[in-house]
Amino acid sequence: MTDSRPIGVFDSGIGGLTVLSALCCRLPEERFVYLGDTARLPYGTKSAETVTRYALRAAAFLAGEDIKMLVVACNTASASALPTLERELPMPVIGVVTPGARAAVRWSSGPIGLIATEGTVASGAYQRAVRALRPDAQVRSRACPLFVPLAEEGWFDHPVTRQVAEIYLQDFAGGVVDSLILGCTHYPLLRSAIAAAVGPGVHLVDSATVVAEEVAERLTGEGILGRGEGGIHLLVTDAPTRIARIAAMILGDDTPPLQLVDLSA
Ligand code: DGL
Repeated sequence: MTDSRPIGVFDSGIGGLTVLSALCCRLPEERFVYLGDTARLPYGTKSAETVTRYALRAAAFLAGEDIKMLVVACNTASASALPTLERELPMPVIGVVTPGARAAVRWSSGPIGLIATEGTVASGAYQRAVRALRPDAQVRSRACPLFVPLAEEGWFDHPVTRQVAEIYLQDFAGGVVDSLILGCTHYPLLRSAIAAAVGPGVHLVDSATVVAEEVAERLTGEGILGRGEGGIHLLVTDAPTRIARIAAMILGDDTPPLQLVDLSA
């Protein structure tokens, strides 16, 4: 059995393109509709109630695009809104927190570091997901709010980004943790600056490939795999020209044109 409907992927901005990229590699025969809610970014500094409201609106919009599955490629929305999205939507919904925790536990044998948005850290979602897999795990967390605008600016390995990373991550350097969860989909874009700040002994955990694997398993399990030519449709809620430049830095030359959509309509 196959299903040619697209998979919806959603983030507050361009960060979720790191997950989309992994999904396209793992599932080249699937079509994807990506929605970046750039008009409301950042989500990470907002309350759980506001993030849940935004996430529900974005999910309803994607549901209107006849998607067969929703990937919440935003840790902040996954941490605050996943149970509500699962309850409200008729299709399978996959978040990024549990796959990220699974990847961290697989890589780590000691204390685990977590960097994420203020909302994700405050929610305790990662801490719970890690301890569900390894009850005695120690998780040290730190919110890094400036990483999101630096990534949205395309300053992936800029001297300013390196300096900000050194300040934020000084408590994780020198073997204090053996792995560091990049608990925001924007952070893998700053991988080199983050790696330089924590040093070579710390494994950086990016949930994108684990999420892509989980999506593949779920599609197979539900009997809704696609068998087409694949493709991406990119939607944003603000500043498509500006975002197109950054999207091309992540997705490369094949980046399709971005379409502006209005979620308030
Ligand atoms: N990329 C989002 C995440 O994974 C959040 C960025 C933001 O809007 O603050 O949490």
